[in-house]
Amino acid sequence: GESVPRAELLLAWYDRHRRVLPWRAKPGETADPYRVWLSEIMLQQTTVKAVGPYFMKFVARWPRVTDLAAASLDDVLRMWAGLGYYSRARNLHACAVAVASAHGGAFPDTEEGLRALPGIGPYTAAAIAAIAFDCRTMPVDGNIERVVSRLFAVEEALPKAKPEIQRLAATLLGPSRAGDSAQALMDLGATICTPKKPACVLCPLNEDCLARHQGEQETFPRKAPK
Ligand code: ADE
Repeated sequence: GESVPRAELLLAWYDRHRRVLPWRAKPGETADPYRVWLSEIMLQQTTVKAVGPYFMKFVARWPRVTDLAAASLDDVLRMWAGLGYYSRARNLHACAVAVASAHGGAFPDTEEGLRALPGIGPYTAAAIAAIAFDCRTMPVDGNIERVVSRLFAVEEALPKAKPEIQRLAATLLGPSRAGDSAQALMDLGATICTPKKPACVLCPLNEDCLARHQGEQETFPRKAPK
């Protein structure tokens, strides 16, 4: 609506409907940067459902980043078997070694510091900064691109629209709780603002979704002809 800022509607929805996921801090708990990082690397090319058991195995065997750093690469690769994209596992180990040695086991708490680590690109750096450290930044993955392109009816096609979508996504951040805002958009994209047949009646932002006003939800994000 006009009077209640989108950021507040989104957070109020998240407080009621957040998914319980193994790497997520419970309300009131502080996020563990190690668990946030590990989950974001695993989730890069793998579904939430498939990641669950792997995440649990990893944190049971290696509870802290220093434990993972002390493991052999072969052991890490064996635990990773089945998740695919094995360069992620190699970077995971290299990153753990870097954090354990250069940073004394503490993850950098800025996007820039995180970006300098193996396997951490712009999306992952923003996700960890927001979720683990509450930096006021919005990570934009495919799900969030879809939500934002619909909300603002972004006419430009992907991938050209990426900078504009990034800018618009940041407008959904309130003064605090950046990590919850990011995870709220992830959950919205996964459960309501789905690629096909989005459940707009359940969406906390439906009143000011421009795509919905046009009756054109499914046609966003626009895609460049091949
Ligand atoms: N996909 C990528 N990161 C995620 C997260 N933190 N929670 C749920 N889905 C995700």
